[in-house]
Parts: sequence; C-alpha cells; structure tokens
Amino acid sequence: MDFHQKIAVFASGAGSNAQKIIEFFSGSQVSVALVVCNKPNAGVLEIAKKHHIATLLIEKEQFFKGNAYVDELKEAGVNFIVLAGFLWKIPSALIRAFPHGLINIHPALLPKYGGKGMYGHHVHESVIHNKEKESGITIHYVDELYDHGKIIFQATCPVLADDDATSLANRIHKLEHEYYPQVIKELLHNSK
Ligand code: GAR
Repeated sequence: MDFHQKIAVFASGAGSNAQKIIEFFSGSQVSVALVVCNKPNAGVLEIAKKHHIATLLIEKEQFFKGNAYVDELKEAGVNFIVLAGFLWKIPSALIRAFPHGLINIHPALLPKYGGKGMYGHHVHESVIHNKEKESGITIHYVDELYDHGKIIFQATCPVLADDDATSLANRIHKLEHEYYPQVIKELLHNSK
C-alpha cells in the first residue's frame, strides 16, 4: 500500500533549509504539507507562498498553553515534523503527539554549543571565540530540552583561521542543505 507522507516544516527565519526540503521532495511520495512559523514577516512564508504550500502562523499563548496546534497538524494530515531554524522550545504536548516524528537541525556539533540562546550567529561566534578547529551540523530527535534529544546524524567542516560568523554560517548552511533532506528521506523510509 502506498502511504503518502506529509511533512510540516517549522521555521522562524529566512527558510533556506525549508526551501531545500520543499524542492527535494517536490514530485515525490513525500510532500511538505504545511509551513509553520511564529513570525509574520519571516522569509520562509514567502518561500511557502511561492511553492503553493499552506502556512500556519502560530501564537505563543496557544502553542505553550493550548493544544500546541496538534489538532491543526493532524487535520492537515501531517505525520512528520521537521524544525528548520525554529526558535521556540517545543511543548510536551507536541512531542507526545509525534513521538517518533519530530526532528531538529542544529548548526554545530552537539552536545557542544547547544542550549537556550544558542542559535544562528550566536553559535558560530562561540565556536570561533573558542578557537575550535572543527564545527558542523547535528540532526537530532526533539525532546523537552533545547538541543538535547538523541542524535541521528552529524557532519563536520573545518573552522578556518580567518572565519567570521558569516563565513562559517555559509559553510554550515551548505552542509545542512546537502544532508537534511536526505536524512529526512531515510527516516521516513524507515518509518513506513
Ligand atoms: C540553520 O542554520 C539552523 O541550523 C539554525 O538556524 C538556521 C536557519 O537557517 N538553527 C538553530 O540555530 C537552532 N538552534 P534557514 O532559515 O536559512 O534555514
């Protein structure tokens, strides 16, 4: 039996990872059914619009104190959630509703450089400040703590002597774009 899998991508920012995921799965048995965003002016909403993908703009109160939008996600047929630069913590209600289907990407080699406030440039600035020779990406399951769930995949890249946060972020984005869609595909395949 063919089972059409539906992903929701949660993002708060520019959405370059969301775009790569949408493009990667376009025309396949997997579709990005929904882009979920907490910022009305985020670039990711434009990307969704361009690809004719439904969007859901979420509010803090309902996310953390209501049903965490579980009903809306189920109604849209979503069976897998991908965080791609989504900056709110994930409430327990959502984790319970998608126990094996909620993953995140982090722009560093966890368990180092994770936790509250560790996102985007803050991560890369810390890595450079500490004179690390290597950084990379971590794809992991989401649990109740920031950047903490079981690690699924990591890839590394060098940190160069003349890197600033922007040049390192660019190198890391390339890794994310290369591997995140592929890892999602494998997880969905194994969950069939
Ligand atoms: C990505 O680099 C992602 O790893 C990071 O935000 C960026 C979003 O970029 N996520 C975190 O820092 C989560 N702690 P994008 O909007 O272009 O996909």
